[in-house]
Amino acid sequence: MENKTILTGIRVNSEMTLGNFLGALLPMTRLANKYSKNNQINIFIPDLHTIISDIDGELQKNLVKEIKYYLAAGLELNENVHIYRQSYVPAHSELCWILNCVATMGETSRMIQYKEKSHNGDLGTNVGIFDYPILMAADILLYDATYVPVGEDQFQHLELTRNIAERFNHKFGETFILPAKTSDQAKFMEISQESDKASGIRIRDLQNPEKKMSKSAESENSKIMMNDDPAKVTKKIMSAQTDSLGKISFDMMNQPGISNLLQIESLVTGVPLQDVISTWAGETHYGDLKKKVAASVSGYLADFQAKVAEISDEKVYEILESGEKYANEVANKKLLSVQKAVSLR
Ligand code: TYM
Repeated sequence: MENKTILTGIRVNSEMTLGNFLGALLPMTRLANKYSKNNQINIFIPDLHTIISDIDGELQKNLVKEIKYYLAAGLELNENVHIYRQSYVPAHSELCWILNCVATMGETSRMIQYKEKSHNGDLGTNVGIFDYPILMAADILLYDATYVPVGEDQFQHLELTRNIAERFNHKFGETFILPAKTSDQAKFMEISQESDKASGIRIRDLQNPEKKMSKSAESENSKIMMNDDPAKVTKKIMSAQTDSLGKISFDMMNQPGISNLLQIESLVTGVPLQDVISTWAGETHYGDLKKKVAASVSGYLADFQAKVAEISDEKVYEILESGEKYANEVANKKLLSVQKAVSLR
């Protein structure tokens, strides 16, 4: 693969969950290292998306930490890897407005994430929550991105991006490159991970394993945070919800809690999922599995936290400065072509 743009963003919150990390940040890092020789890799911090909730004054500190996470996860930098903050590239907001005038209320209000976050359209919801996917479309379309590695909860937003871009091109002439279809995105992510460590996986909530592990879960025991210490990790994993079937097998439908633990064990130890499954096949004591997973995750996080502590803030700001220079150049050029297409210039 050559001359493609691969782009993704992860919102900055006070702390990242192990779900975000194993499901999005780590796969993106591997993918970037694999493709950055011949392709453009855009990794950005969606700070404008972050402020739809939790405006807590810690955003600057947290975004520096997120970039350290990429570096600690092994992201290799070269001239094709660009890391930038969304709000430092004003073309994102400008294009979002233009796309607002192309997207419809109907299609935007069908977004599942909007329905969930607005409790089915409660009128007290902030407009940013409604407009969230249109800004996301702008993030993608400004850079002609083909591949957008995200978890499956974001696939609907990618489809919306394609629809808006197609409508725009039809009305105003070919302006945008459409991102790949979600089925092709999923295939790309699987191939690029070269194993069952595919992105598109969904780390589950420890207390409600039918749901994804989410930052917004109310119970502390639902989610493992990247800065948790071993005692916390152990407490959370030991109290994870399982089932009463009394066998250890990988079956997301009937045993989501156990399957989630097997999945996490595979991802943090680097042992292929199939091997983890065979190791535990025939075992019946859930407590033993939990102890092993707790030890694996604790060890993994302790190593990771030590790596993060070694990276300086100065290094991060240097990376951002050069990334934002590049992003502004590319994005402004695209924005101008859009402005011309709609006769704003
Ligand atoms: P955010 O911050 O909500 O999620 C970031 C990424 O993490 C994935 N994810 C998970 N994956 C596996 N298991 C989980 N438990 C889990 N929880 C979250 C999400 O699918 C996502 O890939 N809207 C985007 C941010 C964004 C963006 C963009 C992404 C804004 N503009 C443009 C790509 C391109 C989001 O969901 O962030």
